[in-house]
Amino acid sequence: MLDLKIERTTAPKEKPTDETKLGFGHIFTDHMFVMNYDTGMGWHDARIVPFGNITLSPAAMCLHYGQEIFEGLKAYRTAEGSVQLFRPQENFKRMNVSAERMVIPQIDEEFMLHALKELIKLEQDWVPHTDGASLYIRPFIFATDPYVGVRPADHYLFMIILSPSGAYYSTGLNPVKIYVEQKYVRAVRGGTGFAKTAANYAISLKGQDEAHAQDYEQVLWLDGVEQKYIEEVGSMNIFFVIDGEVITPKLTGSVLPGITRKSALEICKKRGYKVSERRITIQEVADAYDAGKLDEVFGTGTAAVISPVGHLKWGEKIMTINDNKIGPISQMLYDTMTGIQWGKIEDEFGWVVKI
Ligand code: COI
Repeated sequence: MLDLKIERTTAPKEKPTDETKLGFGHIFTDHMFVMNYDTGMGWHDARIVPFGNITLSPAAMCLHYGQEIFEGLKAYRTAEGSVQLFRPQENFKRMNVSAERMVIPQIDEEFMLHALKELIKLEQDWVPHTDGASLYIRPFIFATDPYVGVRPADHYLFMIILSPSGAYYSTGLNPVKIYVEQKYVRAVRGGTGFAKTAANYAISLKGQDEAHAQDYEQVLWLDGVEQKYIEEVGSMNIFFVIDGEVITPKLTGSVLPGITRKSALEICKKRGYKVSERRITIQEVADAYDAGKLDEVFGTGTAAVISPVGHLKWGEKIMTINDNKIGPISQMLYDTMTGIQWGKIEDEFGWVVKI
C-alpha cells in the first residue's frame, strides 16, 4: 500500500459556532488530501496537508476539456460522539467506473478508504454535532498537463476536501418544486450520464437557471432522444410511488447509479414494498396523477438525502403531490436512512464504517 504523509496546519481555523447556519458547501476544514499521478510512476506522494489554494498552469487540460471526476459522501456524528461513514467503499468503486469512462487512471480503492479514514480522524472535531448537519466529503480527480490539445492527460491530481454542511436544499425536508425539462437534455445513450463528471453538471445549469426563473428548485431530466422517459434530477435520483408500487428509472447508462438510490431500493425491498427499476414515461406519471394514483414522488442523493417532491410541472400541467406533504414511504426512508447514518437505529444492512 502507498505511504501516507501527514503535515498538520500551524494555523487552525475557527470552527463554525452556529451549526444551524452552515448552509451547504461553503466552509472548508483545516486539511485536505492530495495525491499525484504521472504516467510511468502511477499514483504517488499521497499526503494530508493544510487546506489551501493550489497552483495550476493556465493551460491545465482540466480547464479546457473538462477531464475531471468527483464523488460525494458524508461523515456523521453519533449521539455517543463517535464519527462514521455511510458505504464509502461504494463511492470509491463508482469513482473507478467514472475514471474508466473519462480515461482517468484507476485508483486503489482500499488505499483510498484508508486515506479518507486518516483524514476524517484528523478533522473529526469538524464533524457537526447538530441534528441534520454532517461533514460533506468531496473526493475529485482532474487532469493537470499544461497542453491545449485533446487527448487523455499524463498528469493528474486527486484531492479530498471536507465541508461541514447542513441540508442541500434550503427547504430542508420540506417538499421541493420540480420542473420537467422539455427543451434541454442532460445525457444521451453512449454519453457520460452514468459517470460522476463535471460536464454532466455544467450541462444542467441552463435548464436549472430557467427553472429557477419560474420559481422551481430543480429540473427533472427526460431521456435525450425522445424526451419521453424519466431519467433523474441531476442532484438526485427520482422515485415515484404509483398505486403502492415504488418505481425508479432503471440504469440505462444515462442515469447516475446513486448510492442513496441503491440503499433506498434495498430498504424498500426489505420492508416488503413492491419495487421496480424500469423505464417510466412522464406520460405514465401524469396519467397516474389524473387517476389519483400518484401517491408520492421523492428524490434520493447523498447531499439531498430523501427529498420529497411537492410540485411537478410538465408543460402547462402542474401536479401537486400528496397535498405538498411528505408521504409515508418518503418519511420511512428518511427515518431509516438518517437513523442508520447518525447511528440512531441498528445498522441492519452493515452499511456503516466507523472511524
Ligand atoms: C451528492 O449528492 O453528493 C452530489 O454529488 C450531488 C451534488 C449536486 C451535490
